[in-house]
Amino acid sequence: MKRPNSAPRYALILAAGKGIRMNSEKAKVLHSLCGKPLVAHVLDKLAELRIERTFVVVGHEAGAVKEALRDYDAEFVLQKKQSGTGHAVMAAAPVLKKLSGSLLVLYGDTPRIESASLLRLLETREREAADEVLLTAFYDDPDGYGRIIRDPDGQAVDIIEEQEATREQRALREVNPGFYCFKIASLLAGLPRLSADNQGGEYYLTDMVRVLCKQGKKVIAIPADRADQTRGINTREELAEAESVLRQAIARKWMLQGVTLLDPASVFIDDSVTIGADTVIYPGVLIEGRSRIGPNCVIGAYSHLKNAVVEEGAVVDHCSVIRNSTVGKNAIVGPFAHLRQNAVISSGARVGNFVEIKNSSLGEGTTAAHLSYLGDAEIGRQVNIGAGTITCNFDGVRKNKTIIKDHAFIGSDSQLVAPVTIHEGAQVGAGSSITEDVPPYSLAIARSRQVNKKGWAKKKRHSAAKARRTSSKKSTRA
Ligand code: UD1
Ligand code: MG
Repeated sequence: MKRPNSAPRYALILAAGKGIRMNSEKAKVLHSLCGKPLVAHVLDKLAELRIERTFVVVGHEAGAVKEALRDYDAEFVLQKKQSGTGHAVMAAAPVLKKLSGSLLVLYGDTPRIESASLLRLLETREREAADEVLLTAFYDDPDGYGRIIRDPDGQAVDIIEEQEATREQRALREVNPGFYCFKIASLLAGLPRLSADNQGGEYYLTDMVRVLCKQGKKVIAIPADRADQTRGINTREELAEAESVLRQAIARKWMLQGVTLLDPASVFIDDSVTIGADTVIYPGVLIEGRSRIGPNCVIGAYSHLKNAVVEEGAVVDHCSVIRNSTVGKNAIVGPFAHLRQNAVISSGARVGNFVEIKNSSLGEGTTAAHLSYLGDAEIGRQVNIGAGTITCNFDGVRKNKTIIKDHAFIGSDSQLVAPVTIHEGAQVGAGSSITEDVPPYSLAIARSRQVNKKGWAKKKRHSAAKARRTSSKKSTRA
């Protein structure tokens, strides 16, 4: 369906500020909420609104902000000195001059806003041919927010920042949460009229309401459906509150899609994670980054997964840590396993307690059940890695490779000094230090031969007992 006046839609996100109240060296918009920078949450909300081009104003930590948004189709505008939200829009004026239509102007620190509210702003502006449409919200604790000033007819005529407000104005509960939609031409015409002659010494974007009203332009202020979604993040406390609300929403979403969470309140699932139906997640689990959990899996208590792929039917038993690694179909990992980096565990394989794996692959049905370190190893199918096996992969200079072919059997407590290959079907005797390749279907034993000294222990016991008797006689005489 064609939109009422077919005005093209654009978005401008202000993300150049430092965020003084966060007390952080890092730009506020880069602080993470459910695993994603605040500003990325705002960008994600634009996805379904048919926005033609999105601009992000950067300044403080500009490079880091750009880097964090490299996967987004956004264009960056630099605001060299941060002299207020109005000044940030002025920095974008050269690019805006070439455009006409609607411009959403959003702040990078309001991650909870719903797409539907932004759509409402766009549609109201288009339908009413308004010059500015802004969202408002009623807060019980409006401290810190700009207050909406309405005339006796209820028409919004100004926004007064907290530090400029009179006592009566401070008592107003209708606030400006910072979501605007402008007709681009009207915004550009009004910008030169903003002034920094105020308590903050900054150009306030909020003054556009007064500027446009004075010019007889059409300004519409619409209260948001649910005030909570409009809350911005200015302090660490507000960040923690938002984290808890969003975390609960993510948990609810997955439960609705058929995932069992035994204790949703204790589970942390990042926004970017996907989980298949009938997977069961135990208490205290963290699943972060681009993790993908398949259907019918079990993620045991207190496990921590980051960028992990866990395929259908796999079990990650409790207290396991998996980073940038893959667990194949029906494989079992843990309890207390550590897939540190680039581990690929094929289907049906088993990795047990206190096994650490890095840069290594385990073939189908292979087992490393206890107490091992496997690094830079390529391990085939149906291999048995005995308890305590260690790949000695680092020679002080290079990381060397261990290759273990299909059906090999590594006896317990063996060290495989890389580079080394254990060929198909070969066996390594327990306690061996393997420094040379083992040919197919051969047995390698690399430990010193056992010597039994008959009666040696008995003699030792006798001499020890005699020594004890002599020393006790001496002490009684004394
Ligand atoms: C702003 C509003 C206030 C509103 C509140 C809602 C103004 C003047 N005030 O205040 O009415 O109630 O948001 O959260 O707009 N930024 C820049 N360049 C700058 C300054 C800020 O890009 O020079 C960006 C920041 O990175 C941030 C956003 O603009 O993402 C808002 O800035 P912030 O300092 O948080 O404004 P508030 O004081 O919260
Ligand atoms: Mg703010």
